[in-house]
Amino acid sequence: MAILITGGCGYIGSHTCIEMLAAGYDIVVIDNFYNSKPEALNRVKELSGKDFPFYECDIRDEEGLRKVFSENKIDAVIHFAGLKAVGESVEKPLEYYDNNVYGTLVMYRVMKEFGCKRIVFSSSATVYGGVNPSPLKEDMPTGAVTNPYGRTKYVLEEILKDFCVSDPAFSAVLLRYFNPVGAHESGRIGEDPNGIPNNLMPFLLQVAIGKREKLSVFGNDYDTHDGTGVRDYIHVVDLARGHVKAVEYAMKNVGAQPINLGTGVGYSVLDIVKAFEKVNGVPVPYVIAPRRAGDIATCFSDPAKAAELLGWKAELTLEDMCRDSWRWQSGNPQGYDS
Ligand code: NAD
Ligand code: UD1
Repeated sequence: MAILITGGCGYIGSHTCIEMLAAGYDIVVIDNFYNSKPEALNRVKELSGKDFPFYECDIRDEEGLRKVFSENKIDAVIHFAGLKAVGESVEKPLEYYDNNVYGTLVMYRVMKEFGCKRIVFSSSATVYGGVNPSPLKEDMPTGAVTNPYGRTKYVLEEILKDFCVSDPAFSAVLLRYFNPVGAHESGRIGEDPNGIPNNLMPFLLQVAIGKREKLSVFGNDYDTHDGTGVRDYIHVVDLARGHVKAVEYAMKNVGAQPINLGTGVGYSVLDIVKAFEKVNGVPVPYVIAPRRAGDIATCFSDPAKAAELLGWKAELTLEDMCRDSWRWQSGNPQGYDS
């Protein structure tokens, strides 16, 4: 019995490989290295002390996937592979629909052919759009998305629900991540973004290490406790552990189940800056800049369903997130090229 992890070389995937191995699962990893480096997998092997099969394979390569499924007995798929940059998706919608939507259809076709009936899918809090009040709950309406990236996540949730209707033995856990940050506590694996980071923590880390002069805080006139945007930051190791629980759930249940993975607590941009400076003793120069188009004031989860169905809740603190992010960044200033 093995669990296939698509995109297992990426940020969340590499941390999930470690947690799956620690929980005693056999894993098989595929990745096309579009947004990751082979070194991440070397470090997963080093940290876990375990080896596992890896295939350099694109999820749109049906023959390649058949080879993976015929050489391994795959019981479930954790499906991370996909493109994730919101701004890029507006410029290149075709690439996003092709990679994320078409890629998942190819994956499903091969799963079906080999009788594999369980998938844990990387969805996003973005499916809630800007229309629902926080705390966000799984039964709130979804689909009011504002960009092609978000639309791929929404559409794939709907498609996976259809697959569950067509095959009553099929199980799809739709994990809606809030804002993953942090790194493995060893400082050996972490997020290694290409180019200028869009997300707060990777940008802040590049300011802290001196690669960039200052952080722009996008707006301080929101209706929040200090006027800056509030989000539900979740440690990537907590998130990875949520996948172990989701696989266990998918083994025992059928049907489609959307589940939030968040902490239920919102922190503002300035909360993050202050916590980071305090925990690490490193200054983070910032300026207040105009609001970023498309941003909302507040977004945080109601994590009760994950606790109820998966027996999971986030355990690591904001201090852990800041400390572990900095350990990774300062130990690997050039990411995996360090
Ligand atoms: P990532 O880019 O670090 O990892 C994705 C991995 O998939 C990369 O290693 C990439 O090379 C690989 N990949 C991309 N297209 C592929 C293809 N066609 N075939 C094979 N491999 C392919 O991203 P991440 O942050 O680890 O995110 C993982 C998943 O979680 C993505 O689906 C993303 O949309 C989703 N998600 C991420 C966040 C976040 O903030 N990081 C939030 C919500 C949802
Ligand atoms: C982004 C994505 C969203 C994705 C989520 C988690 C956009 C528009 N949305 O949302 O689809 O699901 O990440 O990966 O990109 N901020 C600054 N300065 C910066 C960067 C960010 O002040 O340089 C602020 C933002 O205005 C926001 C907060 O920090 O208030 C978090 O931003 P970010 O990390 O980009 O995440 P989201 O906006 O939640």
